[in-house]
Amino acid sequence: MKTFLKIVGGLVLIVIALIAGAVIWLTVRKPASKPAAAEKIEATPERLARGTYLVEHVADCLGCHSDHVVKFGIPVKPGTEGEGGYIFDEKIGFPGVVAAQNITSDAQFGLGKWTDGEIIRAIREGIDRNGDALFPMMPYEHMRNMSDEDVKSVVVYLRTLKPIHKGVPDKHINFPVNLFVKFVPKPVDGVVTAPDPHDNTAYGKYLVTIGGCYECHTPHDDKGKRIAEKAYSGGWEMKGPWGRNFTANLTSTPGTYMAHATKEEFIGRFKAFASMAANTAPDAPAGRNTVMPWLAFSRMTEQDLGAIYDYLKTVTPIENKVVTFPDAK
Ligand code: HEC
Ligand code: HEC
Repeated sequence: MKTFLKIVGGLVLIVIALIAGAVIWLTVRKPASKPAAAEKIEATPERLARGTYLVEHVADCLGCHSDHVVKFGIPVKPGTEGEGGYIFDEKIGFPGVVAAQNITSDAQFGLGKWTDGEIIRAIREGIDRNGDALFPMMPYEHMRNMSDEDVKSVVVYLRTLKPIHKGVPDKHINFPVNLFVKFVPKPVDGVVTAPDPHDNTAYGKYLVTIGGCYECHTPHDDKGKRIAEKAYSGGWEMKGPWGRNFTANLTSTPGTYMAHATKEEFIGRFKAFASMAANTAPDAPAGRNTVMPWLAFSRMTEQDLGAIYDYLKTVTPIENKVVTFPDAK
């Protein structure tokens, strides 16, 4: 009996040692990455214009990386552009604390000391300056599709953001999620190009990918993973300073907005917010504020909004009835 217990005890110790070894290995392990490109990006006026458009109106980087005004659509608070913004923490069910950092050119808190290549690698590959994984709340899994030329334009624009000397809370991700995150970043290989802007559906797909539409409007399972088979069918719950929303079903299954809206109506719905800014946005009626970046997107060109419409009309219709404003009276 004693020998038997000794053997069992020995086996248990071995198993514990193996698990401990695996955890230690994962803890010190760095995510897959490659060295940041050494290229210094030339700042041309074309790139600055394109970068402004992408950051402010398509990829909505500033929406996450700035402070907000609690008015309709949670507009970016003027003067805080890029200073750092949303804090995802346990209050909203996040396993730890991750904040959208300062991406202004401040040398201490922002990107002032980062090389162009390091910024591009963070945006598209999810690797920070120390070679560690960024949490995928930063949408690098989608941004990896952003073309080489577009991401260079984004960097040119970021370099023009006025430095703001302000930090965000330190990152802390709970075990075991901190270990799983290391498997998310993937290097981008080869040349990345954007589709021809005149090929409406292909270009629309490009825009919904870098515009976060796919990310927000696709339901997530209880581990926070997108359910690809239910793409664009909505129903993801989002809580924050705006209150509580569920994302809308953007497939054209009977009964949805997309099923009946014409292209003109779709474009018009966005354009209706184009005259609204942080200082003119109204208070939202109770329970009807929204995280949907209507104000930022309203400045997209009609051509681009039309391409998005054309693409969305091609996605598989999925039945999923969603109440987008559950707390509205
Ligand atoms: C949905 C919100 C969201 C959007 C949209 C977003 N980010 Fe982020 N971003 C984050 C969060 C959160 C982090 C922090 C991740 C972490 O620390 O692990 C981050 C991290 C970063 C970093 C790394 C900063 C550092 O100090 O390590 C850069 C650079 C960055 N984002 C740039 C951008 C750019 C450029 C865009 C637009 C193309 C963008 N982000 C869009 C949320 C967002
Ligand atoms: C940060 C998350 C988020 C992003 C990014 C986002 N949406 Fe939304 N969207 C929502 C939420 C939440 C709602 C429901 C509340 C509302 O109608 O404002 C919504 C509503 C909508 C509606 C209204 C649908 C209806 O049934 O009335 C349309 C159309 C829409 N989104 C299109 C888009 C497109 C196109 C993009 C990308 C360019 C996009 N959304 C990106 C969160 C998001």
